[in-house]
Amino acid sequence: MRASAHVISADFDRIAACSGGIPDVLERAAQRLVAAVPLRSRVLDVGCGTGALARELAAKRGAKVTAIDLSPRMVDVARLRSPASLGIEYAVADLMELSPTGFDVVISTNTLHHLPLADAAARMAAALVPGGMMLIADLFSARGPLELPYNAISWLARPRRPGSRELAAAWDAHWQHDDIPTLPHVRRALRAVLPGVSIRRHISWRYTACWKRPLR
Ligand SMILES: C[S@@+](CC[C@H](N)C(=O)[O-])C[C@H]1O[C@@H](n2cnc3c(N)ncnc32)[C@H](O)[C@@H]1O
Repeated sequence: MRASAHVISADFDRIAACSGGIPDVLERAAQRLVAAVPLRSRVLDVGCGTGALARELAAKRGAKVTAIDLSPRMVDVARLRSPASLGIEYAVADLMELSPTGFDVVISTNTLHHLPLADAAARMAAALVPGGMMLIADLFSARGPLELPYNAISWLARPRRPGSRELAAAWDAHWQHDDIPTLPHVRRALRAVLPGVSIRRHISWRYTACWKRPLR
């Protein structure tokens, strides 16, 4: 069962408290999304965590980034790590209680598995201007005997997060609250609200999704 926003926020407050001194890590799936962002776009980053993606978008794509996260301590860390010159606007906010509008790109990495996927995607789609782009990178679970080779390779290639024993314990506690969807579930949920969405499966239990809001 999906954990409440209160539980998720507390989990990530704890993770943020142990994240001092941990260098920025931008996973390969997130790097792919960055490359797809048009230069100087107005971007909404949903579930920004420590702000690594927001900084990359501002620095490399010249994006005007608004970045939101449920966890106040994550946003504190993100603000501390972000030079004012990047002009990133951070806010503590729950996507499911917002109705943002006017963005060229809405992007989210490793966050939507905490949310009802179709509802969250519909909210993100509504935040886009016509012709705007939604970019998602997130986790899925691969189950069943046919997935054994994929799971073995993914385990070997999994991203390793540097950090302390406290940080590992905080992540372990959080995993208990995660309910990672399968890829068929992801496909059904996203196709229901984003007609024509392109979804790709990658190694290490990551998928990416890309959707363009029609011009009319
Ligand atoms: C696993 S972290 C990912 C952080 C970063 N995007 C990354 O890829 O490293 C998930 C983040 O999503 C945030 N989050 C979860 N539910 C959210 C919601 N409803 N609205 C905004 N942020 C949310 C959490 O607080 C957490 O910081």
